[in-house]
Amino acid sequence: MPMIRETIVTTLNEQGKVHIAPLGLIADGDGWIIAPFRPSTTLDNLRTTPFAVANFTDDVLVFAGCLVGQKDWPTRAAERVPGAVLDASLAHAELQVREIEEDDLRPRFHCRIVYEANHAPFKGFNRAQSAVIEAAILASRVHMLPREKIEQELAYLQIAVEKTAGPREHEAWRLLIEKIEDHYKHPST
Ligand SMILES: Cc1cc2nc3c(=O)[nH]c(=O)nc-3n(C[C@H](O)[C@H](O)[C@H](O)COP(=O)(O)O)c2cc1C
Repeated sequence: MPMIRETIVTTLNEQGKVHIAPLGLIADGDGWIIAPFRPSTTLDNLRTTPFAVANFTDDVLVFAGCLVGQKDWPTRAAERVPGAVLDASLAHAELQVREIEEDDLRPRFHCRIVYEANHAPFKGFNRAQSAVIEAAILASRVHMLPREKIEQELAYLQIAVEKTAGPREHEAWRLLIEKIEDHYKHPST
């Protein structure tokens, strides 16, 4: 299996409106593959504006926020492509789609890196951040995974949050737990 990096991907629609979504980028030699499921705004945007920015951030509140519909995070214009850089990114890569591998479920957009920049130092691993990313993935799959599996995994992940989280990780965790609990109270949402 190739390596995957969990990032915040920004794309633009035809009107130039920025769309922000957490996506796992697949390592592909010198470039990255973006593989959005159908249907999604990221997928539509990549077809009409074939550029993206991969934002590498340790702010897990952005990941959790996007999953609960808080998508309005501060950005600035990218340097070399039509796109937007997340202010919270430690580093970013500006990408151009060079080939599309069509697929009924999940087309793959092979991208080359046009430009990269670093903005702030990586401060080391934090277990609560990893736990929040795992919980975000569970929250995005509540419709597909058995409730028992989700609850077991959350119980384990919560240990790292209790032991190592800062305020943003606690808030991100709270948003995700609320979303998952809401889903079980109102399963159609
Ligand atoms: C850590 C993480 C990684 C994700 N990776 C992907 C991905 O590779 N492809 C995808 O379609 N959705 C992925 N998702 C779910 C998307 O963020 C979510 O479906 C999002 O709404 C994309 O749809 P949109 O472009 O319409 O906003 C991921 C979610 C999380 C939390």
